[in-house]
Amino acid sequence: MLFLQFLFLDVLLPGSNNAHVVEEHISWYLIQISSYANQSWVQNLGSAWLGELQTHGWDSESGTIIFLHTWSRSNFSNEELVDMQVLFHVYFAGLTQEVQNYASQFQFKCPFYLQVRAGCELHSGKSSKGFLHAAFNGSDFLSFQNASWVPAPQGGSRAQKVCDLLNPYKGIKEIAYNLIRNMCPRFVLGLLDAGKMDLQRQVRPEVWLSSSPILESGQLLLICHISAFYPKPIWVMWMRGEREQRGTKQDDILPHADGTWYLRVTLNVSAEEAAGLSCRVRHSSLGDQDIILYWGHGLSVTLITLVVVVLLVLLIVPVLWYKKRCSYQGIS
Ligand SMILES: *[C@@H]1O[C@H](CO)[C@@H](O)[C@H](O)[C@H]1NC(C)=O
Ligand SMILES: *[C@@H]1O[C@H](CO)[C@@H](O)[C@H](O)[C@H]1NC(C)=O
Ligand SMILES: *[C@@H]1O[C@H](CO)[C@@H](O)[C@H](O)[C@H]1NC(C)=O
Ligand SMILES: *[C@@H]1O[C@H](CO)[C@@H](O)[C@H](O)[C@H]1NC(C)=O
Ligand SMILES: *[C@@H]1O[C@H](CO)[C@@H](O)[C@H](O)[C@H]1NC(C)=O
Repeated sequence: MLFLQFLFLDVLLPGSNNAHVVEEHISWYLIQISSYANQSWVQNLGSAWLGELQTHGWDSESGTIIFLHTWSRSNFSNEELVDMQVLFHVYFAGLTQEVQNYASQFQFKCPFYLQVRAGCELHSGKSSKGFLHAAFNGSDFLSFQNASWVPAPQGGSRAQKVCDLLNPYKGIKEIAYNLIRNMCPRFVLGLLDAGKMDLQRQVRPEVWLSSSPILESGQLLLICHISAFYPKPIWVMWMRGEREQRGTKQDDILPHADGTWYLRVTLNVSAEEAAGLSCRVRHSSLGDQDIILYWGHGLSVTLITLVVVVLLVLLIVPVLWYKKRCSYQGIS
């Protein structure tokens, strides 16, 4: 189980004390979003996620699981996968039916929507924890704990009544328990193993700098762009020599469509102070070779290019002029 050690390893980015990025657990979960627009129109969306990576979709028309990666089948047999598919199909149909049946009794007035998040969390000690939470119209409604349905405080008496209705059904509780406590951890272990090539890949970031125009206040916003890196943990800082610049601001890390990540890290400085600053990037794909880009170098490259172009023009124009003159003289 080497791959697990990798996943649960502290991704120790060398050379910095505050750059420890710890990934000590991983969760896999199903997300359900059901919209009830009116008495006759219901939409069920389903998907499955490994951390922040989507692994499965759900085709509600045909009632089939969409496997998004070659490794999305984990190590389950076709038979087991078909059983799961049937289970979800029956669940969606049954839930829709029951919600519509009980809508008036529980004052679920359309339009409303339900969200369910269910799955398991695996820890480095190889222990696992199952969870199932449901929300009504965006606020916590109930959860499944210790093999029974427990209302959320925000759910009020309505959530209590729904739990009272659900709790006597032992069969449903057994299925839910089995899914999140037994099937889920087994599926995740298989998934991590089957997908290790993808999940453990290392993609080096592309880094470039830009800036806002100088503001009236004489301030400049320096922007360090870090793009297309994988995995997600990364450390980026604006530096002056070895000194970290405390005004460094990090935006949210955003996903690219191919599963890699993009990040923007900015620093607000006065225009005179910008020279000599650098953006420093540490990432597991780089080993201990940080990427360091200096502000101002971009400018001098432009300057050099400009100078070269001017020199070329100065050289070429006389040559052309001379040639033209020669040929003119040649003809005459
Ligand atoms: C129900 O909602 C859907 C989607 O908003 C709409 O297309 C449909 O006309 C509605 N039906 C009724 C009976 O209101
Ligand atoms: C749920 O939210 C919708 C708006 O998003 C609102 O129209 C509807 O009345 C809410 N339903 C309940 C039962 O609170
Ligand atoms: C779960 O149930 C067991 C036995 O029924 C009980 O000992 C334990 O305290 C319960 N845990 C929670 C969090 O309710
Ligand atoms: C799949 O892999 C997991 C973890 O390696 C293992 O526990 C399980 O028995 C394997 N087979 C099935 C069918 O789940
Ligand atoms: C940068 O600093 C100046 C002056 O302190 C301030 O006016 C400006 O809003 C700041 N810009 C950003 C993007 O923080």
